[in-house]
Amino acid sequence: MIMMNISMKTTKETTSEKELDLQKQYMEQAKQLVSIKAQQLGHPLTCCVTTFGCQMNSRDSEKLSGILKEVGYQLTDSETADFVIYNTCTVRDNANQRVYGRLGVLGGMKKKNKEKKIALCGCMMQELSVIDKIKKSYSFVDLIFGTHNIYKFPELLCHMLNDNHMIIDIWDETKAIVEELPVERKYRFKSGVNIMFGCNNFCSYCIVPYVRGRERSRSSKDILDEINTLAGQGVVEVMLLGQNVNSYGKNLEEKITFAKLLQEVEKIDSIKRIRFMTSHPKDLSDELIEVMQNSAKICRHLHLPLQSGSSRILQQMNRRYTAEDYLALVKKLRNSIPDLSLTTDLIVGFPGETKEDVDETIRMVKEVGFENAFTFIYSKRTGTPAAAMPNQCNPAEVSANFDRLLKAVQETARERIAGMEKITGEVLVEEVNEQDANMVTGRLSNNLLVHFNGSKDLIGTFVNVRLVENKGFYYIGEMI
Ligand code: SAH
Ligand code: SF4
Ligand code: F3S
Repeated sequence: MIMMNISMKTTKETTSEKELDLQKQYMEQAKQLVSIKAQQLGHPLTCCVTTFGCQMNSRDSEKLSGILKEVGYQLTDSETADFVIYNTCTVRDNANQRVYGRLGVLGGMKKKNKEKKIALCGCMMQELSVIDKIKKSYSFVDLIFGTHNIYKFPELLCHMLNDNHMIIDIWDETKAIVEELPVERKYRFKSGVNIMFGCNNFCSYCIVPYVRGRERSRSSKDILDEINTLAGQGVVEVMLLGQNVNSYGKNLEEKITFAKLLQEVEKIDSIKRIRFMTSHPKDLSDELIEVMQNSAKICRHLHLPLQSGSSRILQQMNRRYTAEDYLALVKKLRNSIPDLSLTTDLIVGFPGETKEDVDETIRMVKEVGFENAFTFIYSKRTGTPAAAMPNQCNPAEVSANFDRLLKAVQETARERIAGMEKITGEVLVEEVNEQDANMVTGRLSNNLLVHFNGSKDLIGTFVNVRLVENKGFYYIGEMI
């Protein structure tokens, strides 16, 4: 039997505070269920949260982990755990295929261990065709929920622990933002902070607005309270997260812009670095450029997705800027903030794209001089306007264009990064180097990765470093 709730309305909402109390009660109940199960099995229950997709998903996974830890699970990275949860992404089809592939392996493990529990959540679960496929081909999954009811995780967890049926709870949308459930952070010195959820832009290729719902900004008070709490716990770098941070505040009653929010965050003493993701070029204001220019804390890095260098394709993509607009914006940014590092996202193979369109993208890459660019092959997402366009590209041509673009991106990035030799700057140390235990790895304000000799007690601290050896996309540095 499958217990299923795919609701198309938001009638189940209560106020955030009531909801928070309710979920806290469920956490108490889950605690007892986990403890009983651990006694029965004779070992503490373990769980593994695997994340696919973007930083928004990583942050959601920290929330899931926080709740799981609170109710008594031991967190592990191994999918042999008693409970495995996949927080999925559906932005491109290869993300979906990876989930199906790995689910097959989990199913094999569950055959040997009937007590194993498996849950799926995140963006992919917001698609009805995915749910159908899982019901048919992966019926061993215990719990499925989506992006809008993630705050109900304690409640869903209780149902899962009480039940042996597949539970499916997917909502079509929500207005609720429930604050203050526990969070288990990956790093103690830096943290993502959601400032808004969803997206209203409907770029014609993109599925995010359909699976994440309409844009909702959190109140500045809630955001600043959270950052103050993080600061109190030792966080020195925050990354403000949203699909389009530049339109922050537009649906709020309070009069606030993203630039004003940044100024408020800047006032929090022990926060030393502020990053944000992602900026949409059409909404990047002069006010923001000015605030960045005058800020001692906002990092010298901007991720500004271009997608295509052809104005014709940009229009078809519904990006609402032209290549010329983008160049003018870059010029303004580089004039105001000369040490700014610019990165971007590019798509190759959008319906109707010709070799000449890709030439224009390559020209833009060279002209802007991106420090890095994520280059993606267009993936057809069912339900988006682009999926219904008649002129889908020929895969062999797309592949050739992709290779050409990637080459240009890599050459440009190499050149830009070579230009940074001998500069000095502050590195926030993130971890011990994976290859060499005598070295540590961190980032400059401009997001450049630097490795240098040092020990693990430097993690979470700022160290002045000179860049000495260019390794192409990163540097070996030395402490000064
Ligand atoms: N909100 C962010 C992007 C989120 S998705 C923004 O607009 O900047 C991250 C990136 O995935 C996008 O910038 C785009 O380059 C890529 N992407 C989104 N949909 C895609 C699709 N259908 N095929 C290929 N790449 C896609
Ligand atoms: Fe997708 Fe465009 Fe929204 Fe980014 S801005 S999430 S690319 S619809
Ligand atoms: Fe993927 Fe969802 Fe992020 S589709 S890119 S995980 S918002």
